[in-house]
Amino acid sequence: MKILVIGGGGREHAICWKLAQSPQVRKIFCAPGNAGTAEVAENIAIDVMDIEALRVFVEHQSIDLTIVGPEKPLIAGIVDVFEARGLRIFGPSREPAQLEGSKVFSKRLMRQAGVPTADFEVFDDPEEARAYLRAADYPIVVKADGEAAGKGVVVAQDYAEAETAIRQMMEERIFGASGERVVIEECLRGPEASILAFVDGETVRPMIAIQDHKRIGEGDTGANTGGMGAYAPVRLAPQSVVDEVTRRIIEPTVAAIRATGIPYRGVLYAGVMLTEKGPYCIEFNCRFGDPEAQVALMLLETDLVDICRAVVEVELDKVPVIFSQRAAVTVVMASEGYPGSYPTGVPITGLDGARKLDALEVFHAGTQRDESGQLVTSGGRVLAVTATGETFIEAQKRAYAGVDLIHFKGSAVRRDIGWQA
Ligand code: AMP
Ligand code: GLY
Repeated sequence: MKILVIGGGGREHAICWKLAQSPQVRKIFCAPGNAGTAEVAENIAIDVMDIEALRVFVEHQSIDLTIVGPEKPLIAGIVDVFEARGLRIFGPSREPAQLEGSKVFSKRLMRQAGVPTADFEVFDDPEEARAYLRAADYPIVVKADGEAAGKGVVVAQDYAEAETAIRQMMEERIFGASGERVVIEECLRGPEASILAFVDGETVRPMIAIQDHKRIGEGDTGANTGGMGAYAPVRLAPQSVVDEVTRRIIEPTVAAIRATGIPYRGVLYAGVMLTEKGPYCIEFNCRFGDPEAQVALMLLETDLVDICRAVVEVELDKVPVIFSQRAAVTVVMASEGYPGSYPTGVPITGLDGARKLDALEVFHAGTQRDESGQLVTSGGRVLAVTATGETFIEAQKRAYAGVDLIHFKGSAVRRDIGWQA
């Protein structure tokens, strides 16, 4: 089989790495990829949002299957374009991808499907939002409806903070049209977990629960990032919790989407909060998480090609999805200054040494080769050093042993990945 993977981060390197282990795969392309994907795939210089160029490439190369990493092309409708041409592609089509693309769509669907989620109101008029906020209890959560690069959620401690969020989102439009509407919702409390599932529109095959670390600083402090590390298994989310999330959150959502006439196919990612009243859904993503994918794919024992094909062909009921009982930890090495502005082109050394460690993979995120072939940084998140072990402690030790062998100037690493374990 010839496969195209769309994207260029740590998630996509992990997807390419896993695909490369399949005896069914003859050739992998990655668009645009990074220096890591270049070792297992052929990188193609096409932007993830250039859907037309991607389609032409797939048709010319007779690619058998395309796997979409990031949400943006999914929300923009890449799957609809490919399917209209009879091309096999893994990911949800435009309408169901709005589960991630629009908080209003996602919250209304959850309410209608009876999925436990924070109580909420939708506003398109800032004055009405202010009136509501004046009478509200605090803390309260304000969310921009659309895509906001992970910055569209404000947990406001008082009216002043909430009002600032309303002004910035709805009037100053700091997220553009994404702030035309906002969701204001009840603030929930509890540890969070990412519960991802493969979905073919009917059958749901949950993965293991994973915990991400969104804040830049140790002890979960500082600015929000794309994710500074992740691990599994999560002690607070054993199989019984995964089963409950599948039954109460994922399956009813998949059924409600199916009832709209366009089934959900791909990975459905539920961000859940484990509250005193049970698991509540905080958000949906329409794709693998990053860095959750690095952990999930290190532990996945089933051939990823079999799963993706079964999803596309609506035969997931015939494919068991099996995960190892081992633990896995991924530690992100980020550029100095991330998630703010950061330098690029910084030389990276020590990778070969780290790679000699057993049960460890260094997934590349923001890397490239300069003219001389030297590996350099090219993004905010640079590497995701991922290890497995019999126990969490073993996996964590191994991952940090790998991190300690790798150097680039100003690298930012959280030393407490998995502290809740
Ligand atoms: P999101 O972009 O929807 O994942 O939200 C980012 C983060 O905001 C989540 O990971 C939570 O930590 C927090 N958050 C979102 N919604 C709520 C809520 N209703 N109550 C408390 N925290 C929330
Ligand atoms: N790690 C969070 C995300 O992928 O959205």
